[in-house]
Amino acid sequence: MKLHYGRMLSDKLDGEHGLPRVRLTDLAGRFPAIRNEVEARRRDGEYGFYELGEQAQTVSAIRRFAEGIGQAYDHVLVLGIGGSALGTKALVNALRPPAWNELDDEAREFFPRITVLENVDPGSIAGALRRIDPRRVFVNVISKSGGTAETLAQYLVVRGWLDEALGQDAAVRHVAFTTDPVGGPLRAIAEREGIAALEIPPSVGGRYSVLTPVGLLPAALVGIDVASLVLGARRALERATEADLLQNPAALYAALHWAADSWLGARTHVLMPYSDRLKEFSAWFAQLWAESLGKRLDRRGQVVHSGPTPVAAIGATDQHSLAQLFMEGPFDKLVSFIRVEHPDEDLRIPSRGNLPEELAYLPGHTVGELLLSEQEATSAALARMGKMNLTLSIPALTAETVGELIMFFQLATGYAGAWYGVNPFDQPGVELGKRLTFAAMGRPGFTKETAPGTGGPADVVE
Ligand code: PA5
Repeated sequence: MKLHYGRMLSDKLDGEHGLPRVRLTDLAGRFPAIRNEVEARRRDGEYGFYELGEQAQTVSAIRRFAEGIGQAYDHVLVLGIGGSALGTKALVNALRPPAWNELDDEAREFFPRITVLENVDPGSIAGALRRIDPRRVFVNVISKSGGTAETLAQYLVVRGWLDEALGQDAAVRHVAFTTDPVGGPLRAIAEREGIAALEIPPSVGGRYSVLTPVGLLPAALVGIDVASLVLGARRALERATEADLLQNPAALYAALHWAADSWLGARTHVLMPYSDRLKEFSAWFAQLWAESLGKRLDRRGQVVHSGPTPVAAIGATDQHSLAQLFMEGPFDKLVSFIRVEHPDEDLRIPSRGNLPEELAYLPGHTVGELLLSEQEATSAALARMGKMNLTLSIPALTAETVGELIMFFQLATGYAGAWYGVNPFDQPGVELGKRLTFAAMGRPGFTKETAPGTGGPADVVE
């Protein structure tokens, strides 16, 4: 993986905007303190995801588990939300052929189809249960806390559906949980009912957990090479030990984003891969960046309300949508591109007789060439307009490069937490929403809180 960051610098833009090159030296000078902080917090057990590059035992256990399930099921139904769902969607999108669920058994090499139910929209749940055969489904319920309302509501609905179709004893064999090793309601249900339950390492937070059984089990079930995912992650971790900021891509990515935001007001951080197969990856990144860096309090307890706004875009599609804003709108954005140098397959654009002259340039090229040319052209055009951007390039989409990308962004987020001075591993805002939901739904021990302003005029219009 390569990080091209020249177009962050004013001498590669319009001379007026972007970071003056001398700022790189400034950032490099500040980096030892950032690195020391990350190292110290890591020793205190905060950065648990650093341990995910060495997982030989977990990988073999997951492979055994997935093989044990074998051909008995032809559909995997994942129930989870946020960090317990987005990573799995990213893996399936990136590493299984497009439209996986529409392929026949042979094209899927007899691996099951997969559905990730991440919301409590009744239409989506009912629709999925109509499509899936309960006799042939394997349900993986994923929740680190084991008590998230959405996931547990999904579970109760799905479990009722399974019990009704198969009877309670058989239904248990169709279910596995992935949850905390000791605590939480899911763990308690697993123990009571003898349901298989995999463990999420306690030191790895939800949005950093795709390379634990949270993402590895569903990935293995649909035939993704989980050992290579971990190998790729290890490669990113090795690069992240570099003490020199300019040799440490994840740390540099974090530093450039913090500097662009703090010094130049680039508060919107766009991730724009030029690959449909990284669309879900962008959504995964957006959650990681937003939930980790958007904080009311800093590490010292001061009110800061800090945090950049991530935007998930996709090239070339969004060139005809968001890119106009990126090009000519305010100087408040930093666009990161991802390019895949060698797509799995490519299509030559054929010639045909009597093509109008304006189209004659297309035949002879491939669609993949067009896509990559568009990425470079968009990056160059942004630079010409004085807009900061950088490009991550990977040779191809493989389990190894995707594992590396995942760990790269996790490392960058961990470093960004230190640059912003916030805790990238907590989510008090999300938890407040969870508590208020519990209260609204009448969970004992959670009292309804009155929102400020309640009781005045309705302020509604029809
Ligand atoms: O990153 C996080 O911590 C959150 O997005 C969680 O993953 C999400 O809220 C789901 O939580 P849980 O896995 O406990 O059900």
